[in-house]
Amino acid sequence: MDEEQTAAWWGRRAWALLSAVRARAPLVQCITNLVSMDIAANALLAAGASPAMLHCLREVPDFTPRCDAVYVNVGTLSEDWLPSMRAAASAGRPWVLDPVAAAASEFRMEACLSLLALRPAVVRGNASEILALASRSAAASSTFKGVDSSHDSGDALQAAKALAQSTGAVIAVSGAVDYITDGEQVAGAGNGVALMQKITATGCAVTALITAFVAVEPSDALVAAACALAVFGLAGEIGMESAKGPASLRMHLIDALYCLDEQTVTSRVKISLQS
Ligand SMILES: *[C@@H]1O[C@H](CO)[C@@H](O)[C@H](O)[C@H]1NC(C)=O
Repeated sequence: MDEEQTAAWWGRRAWALLSAVRARAPLVQCITNLVSMDIAANALLAAGASPAMLHCLREVPDFTPRCDAVYVNVGTLSEDWLPSMRAAASAGRPWVLDPVAAAASEFRMEACLSLLALRPAVVRGNASEILALASRSAAASSTFKGVDSSHDSGDALQAAKALAQSTGAVIAVSGAVDYITDGEQVAGAGNGVALMQKITATGCAVTALITAFVAVEPSDALVAAACALAVFGLAGEIGMESAKGPASLRMHLIDALYCLDEQTVTSRVKISLQS
């Protein structure tokens, strides 16, 4: 395939997956941080998924097996929630991890490493988070040496590959370009606008959207993650056309996600395989 054909292929995949989410309304259990609950649930609803914000350990055995996918985010981690996260991640459903601020404390790092051992389908973090996890994850650190200090998504790519190989997860690193890798292949997703970083929990919301895409495409988590990142970034680009600042961008982004049509997605999604 030449470059243009490849771009068209990704555009069609992104539209097919968004359409599948709209048609099937996958049930996504979210055990996510207190700051992100609202925007994550609203992003899932706008995309056509069904969010369920349950984090009680005693509900996991009944509820989680009925879900299409599970989203775990450690942003406002507490000792009480970790057993629920581990139980939901172990319930046999495809699941996605957002290791927010993984290196903020030893407890948090240990929690993230113990969750990584439960085989997430996708891990989505920023460069600092992926670099920190890769350098602490024993298996990955034997192939990845050293933490780069500049923390650009491109700099974290080698760490992401090592982490993908050692965990079996697809690793997505957010940045100006998002990189998504299964340890061999690398996709770059280039949609988005800088102002999205000024809205709290947009990263958490896009990880929720990745979970919905994984729910409808569990056998190809790399494609699911790349398409979700591009679709969310595209909604940000369209939202930006009407936004006056972060608060109105938040609103317009959610509207844009809800209104995305085939023509817009297939022509504006920017994903390419890197060599
Ligand atoms: C990654 O996210 C964490 C948590 O929000 C933040 O503290 C850190 O500065 C971010 N790093 C980059 C490179 O954006």
